[in-house]
Amino acid sequence: MRKKIVAGNWKMNLSAEEALTLANELKVKIDHQLDTKDPKIPNGLPQILLFPPNVYLSRVLEVFRNYEGVAVGVQNIHQEEKGAFTGEVSPLMVRSLGGTHTLIGHSERRIHFNEDDELLAKKIALAVKNGLTPVYCCGEMLPDRETGKHFQLVSEQLKKGVFWMDEQEVKNIIIAYEPVWAIGTGQTASPEQAQEMHAYLRELINDHYSKKTAEEMTILYGGSCNAKNAAELFAQKDVDGGLIGGASLKADDFFTIIQSF
Ligand code: 13P
Repeated sequence: MRKKIVAGNWKMNLSAEEALTLANELKVKIDHQLDTKDPKIPNGLPQILLFPPNVYLSRVLEVFRNYEGVAVGVQNIHQEEKGAFTGEVSPLMVRSLGGTHTLIGHSERRIHFNEDDELLAKKIALAVKNGLTPVYCCGEMLPDRETGKHFQLVSEQLKKGVFWMDEQEVKNIIIAYEPVWAIGTGQTASPEQAQEMHAYLRELINDHYSKKTAEEMTILYGGSCNAKNAAELFAQKDVDGGLIGGASLKADDFFTIIQSF
């Protein structure tokens, strides 16, 4: 069965104190669930991924040390392992602290930092080489959807960013479909729109690799996913969980999303 995942991308938010409060509030809820095995979550907790700002990485890792079901990673990495790249953080550094995952190609990186698919492919390669699991983000802008180019655009992002990998490697990648028009806007993709794109992504993986790999890969939805709409989105056949921005900053909301399968 495919892995169910709920990931929180804290983006560039929270003071150190607020970040630790959030992590600890979340931990209390997870502990309670693990102790009581609350039947509200019949299949147990999904895998939880947290992406705090880099400066808080070790503090958040410390909170969840020895928690198998909670992994902590970073929102971005540099495409080189080390060297004269002032201000950057490499996957080697993240891994050496105990971080396990990295977002790659978030639309905010593509738009504000001009990251293209070729660069993102390099980042994925270096992440994998250093033992990090990439969460590769793809998704179209509003004009692409309005002109019916969304499938083609997302297909190119996937092909250039990921499909150079061999089948064994690609199985370790997590895909996140995040339509840019839905991010931070409150305008969530409808469950039908999300399912349609996720099924399409799976079809692409099937065509390039195999049915088995397509069935095994986790594809998350992101974009104004919240405590109210998560259950409807996660009920879709090809939606394996969510990459959550704003709603991951409140422990109550984020935990409700975690319980939404
Ligand atoms: P929002 O949930 O705030 O729309 O952000 C989604 C996102 O960009 C997660 O990476």
